[in-house]
Amino acid sequence: MPHSRFLGTGLAVPDRVVTNDELSRLMDTTDEWIRTRTGIQERRWVTEGETGVEMGRKATERALDMAGLAPADLDAIVYATSSPDHFAPGNGVYLQRVLGIATIPALDVRAQCSGFIYALSVADAWIRTGQFRNVLVVGSEIQSTGLELSTAGRHVAVIFADGAGAVVLGPGNEDGSGILAFDLHSEGAHAEKLWVDAPGSMYHPRVSHQQIDAGKQYLEMDGREVFRHAVVRMPESVRAVLSAAGQRVEELKLLLAHQANLRISEVVQKDLGLRDDQVYNNITRYGNTTAATIPILLDECVRAGRLRRGDLVVMTAFGSGFMWGSAAVRW
Ligand code: UT7
Repeated sequence: MPHSRFLGTGLAVPDRVVTNDELSRLMDTTDEWIRTRTGIQERRWVTEGETGVEMGRKATERALDMAGLAPADLDAIVYATSSPDHFAPGNGVYLQRVLGIATIPALDVRAQCSGFIYALSVADAWIRTGQFRNVLVVGSEIQSTGLELSTAGRHVAVIFADGAGAVVLGPGNEDGSGILAFDLHSEGAHAEKLWVDAPGSMYHPRVSHQQIDAGKQYLEMDGREVFRHAVVRMPESVRAVLSAAGQRVEELKLLLAHQANLRISEVVQKDLGLRDDQVYNNITRYGNTTAATIPILLDECVRAGRLRRGDLVVMTAFGSGFMWGSAAVRW
């Protein structure tokens, strides 16, 4: 079956820049703590009225432009988000609507930080089996509206941020470029180590005043535990996906690792024995944008000329679920 390959990439982030100093006025934290523990210098947060779908649309238009395609050329949408604009329906159908595309399928994927890798695997399978030709894959998140902006929530609030990235995938050609392999995993035993408890359909009503008063609507994380698993699972998955693709770590041109904490990325780099020129990080400017981090990294690298046709690139992510995975790509 033919590989699917990348036809275009795009990103969109809110204009509003939130500095560490701004956060230190909302909670007991400092620029120094945030920089040394996470690497983050600033992040983007939406202002009222901005939506995940709207960021997804902007990223999509840039990706379509690079691909030389119009919205009408798309045959399906896979939309990764853990922070949809509404409980239901998913963001995919809203994106379809604002793009003005008729009745193509639009699927939401909820796999949190690993959402883009999972979404990519669905799109790739659709293309390989010949079911759809040009598939849009989006990772878009608004985390800032689900953060507890006080000292009680500081271990989470200083990390997470908003943004979107999109890629257009299409059938590969004879040059062998495209997606080579995936490695996907989850381990539900750790579901509550990074989660949002409410609203939830197991509650009557789905969210109560008591739950809101207790802060159950906020993203909650056991940071140390997530860190401990992330630094093991990402290198393990990178090795597995390279092995499935019949490639070696030494052949890697670029590793694009989920941007959760610069210290995690540094441990992963060291574990894999990669030089600085084999990795690319942008967490300093964007923070952790969950499902959007990988397509944002990808778009920046493509536009900066860091990735050229024929290069071997691996994308890897780890996050809530726990869910993790990697994709190996011949660019
Ligand atoms: O995207 C999905 C995956 N997410 C991740 O991969 C995140 C993984 N985890 C992490 O990145 C880190 O665990 C954090 C950055 C969240 C926290 O860093 P840490 O070095 O693990 O800190 P800690 O939770 O062990 O806390 C150390 C101290 C505590 O104070 P005490 O108990 O030692 O007095 C915290 O209360 O740092 C305190 N602390 C803060 N201090 C200032 C926690 N957050 C902050 C803060 N500012 N924002």
